[in-house]
Amino acid sequence: MDTDVLTPHRPAVPAGDDPLWWRSAVIYQVYVRSFADGNGDGTGDLAGVRARLSYLKDLGVDAIWFNPWYPSPLADGGYDVEDYRDIHPQFGTLAEAEQLIEEALALGIRTIIDVVPNHISDQHPWFQAALAAGPGSPERERFWFHPGTGESGDGMPTDWVSSFQGDTWTRTTNADGTPGEWYLHLFTPEQPDLNWNHPDVRREHEDILRFWFDRGVAGVRIDSAALPVKDPALPPLGDGDHGPGDHPHLDRDELHDIYRAWRKVADEYEGTRVLVGEVWLDDAERFARYLRPDEMHTAFNFDFMTQPWSAAALRGSIQRTLAEHEPIGAPATWVLSNHDVTRPVTRYGRADSAFAFARKRFGTPTDLARGTRRARAAALLSAALPGSLYIYQGDELGLPEAELPREVIQDPMHFRSGGVDPGRDGCRVPLPWSGVRPPYGFGAADGVDTWLPQPADWAPLTAAAQSADPDSMLSLYREALRLRCDLDDLRGESLAWLELGADVLAFRRGDRTLSITNLGAVPVPLPAHRAVLLSSAAIEDAAGCGILPPDSTVWLTL
Ligand code: GLC
Repeated sequence: MDTDVLTPHRPAVPAGDDPLWWRSAVIYQVYVRSFADGNGDGTGDLAGVRARLSYLKDLGVDAIWFNPWYPSPLADGGYDVEDYRDIHPQFGTLAEAEQLIEEALALGIRTIIDVVPNHISDQHPWFQAALAAGPGSPERERFWFHPGTGESGDGMPTDWVSSFQGDTWTRTTNADGTPGEWYLHLFTPEQPDLNWNHPDVRREHEDILRFWFDRGVAGVRIDSAALPVKDPALPPLGDGDHGPGDHPHLDRDELHDIYRAWRKVADEYEGTRVLVGEVWLDDAERFARYLRPDEMHTAFNFDFMTQPWSAAALRGSIQRTLAEHEPIGAPATWVLSNHDVTRPVTRYGRADSAFAFARKRFGTPTDLARGTRRARAAALLSAALPGSLYIYQGDELGLPEAELPREVIQDPMHFRSGGVDPGRDGCRVPLPWSGVRPPYGFGAADGVDTWLPQPADWAPLTAAAQSADPDSMLSLYREALRLRCDLDDLRGESLAWLELGADVLAFRRGDRTLSITNLGAVPVPLPAHRAVLLSSAAIEDAAGCGILPPDSTVWLTL
């Protein structure tokens, strides 16, 4: 009998595999709903991704990170998971996901999936059972159910603050119709927080990891990784001033045990299965703890992602990043954006080009030509740095943040801000692939609307239009990733700064590759070099040496 038929194991390691692949990998983030639509219903799906794998191969990526693709009511774009062992019916089937993982691997592209340990969907069978079983039941112990304060119990059990704004507790109704206990949700009420002190919660997540590693998945991105553990005493947040590890629900020391257990699971598998943390923490030393050798492999570099377009700010962030990673031997990651933040082309064109959730507003002016120049320069800057590189779908096309009309917005961040924050849908608009009008080859059938509308002026931004243009953002990304893969200097881990002025970021990688970014307002003469490898803007020639214009990056061979 052919035993392969009985096991879900898939070929897990591409030919010529490198166990350290993750240290310098280029990882492309696919937001499935908006990548490509294979069945014409206006929502992206796995069939759409499978049909575009060759695009990702040509782009030069080593892995794809998929945002949550599981069955979900999509109250928070899929970060409200109803069933971890299946695929959202709008996206396809489990069998298709297995095929996709295998087909990608055949092209040398690994698959990373999203796991969301802090919470699940309120429609998940565990939460439904907890509601049905009532106060004091074992089913409720997997969550944070608690009586309210005050005589009638109508006060919230804590004063904790949601990163989505609004309340963090919702009151339930008892079977007899009377007001009942409250339950904790650091995000929306549709995302009840799990109780990580409960053994079921731990066991279940380790099983979920095995379920997907068995199917050839090469890693997991861990959502909100510093949030899952809560202080069981539910102390007040008060003035928010807490010592390291002493916050009631952020960065608690007990988390490390969980990720050590996950690392053990990952290490049971051949090939390196990686853990990538979404860890938002200001304290560099606390951040680095998640990357100790028996915990996560890497974590997103949000410090770098949120910096303004300023040489001092970016240099400071790069130096901090390298210094905090070096002692633990973990590689840095470089991230310009993701599905939660403003697209770089828009952000870098603004007067205030730093990113902060709290400052997002409708109609913030931007200069897209300037933003695009800077985003091109930032693409080369980040691709020249040592470590792994994340590219959010559509950034390689230079898509701006779409200004969506209020009536189409679906993101709960928008609603929970009372309509003040436009939310995150502006960076989640379906990708333009070809053609001159919506749906730009996305795949929606005639007469079917895409789940978010695409702007009318995206014709020049389609992948097809840009493929033919050597000066396009797409061509720049392709060439940058090709060089990053071909040049030993760029694959290595060494970096040495060069001083070329306060507004210039210049560093040597390896023996003879130089990256120079001009963030100032005046052109900068290039140092002596043998050849220009790639530049984000045309290099003018003056007196025999090249001149690097403002807002641009060049890679040189010495
Ligand atoms: C993470 C995700 C974000 C989601 C939140 C709650 O920050 O990136 O999209 O809304 O977690 O799961």
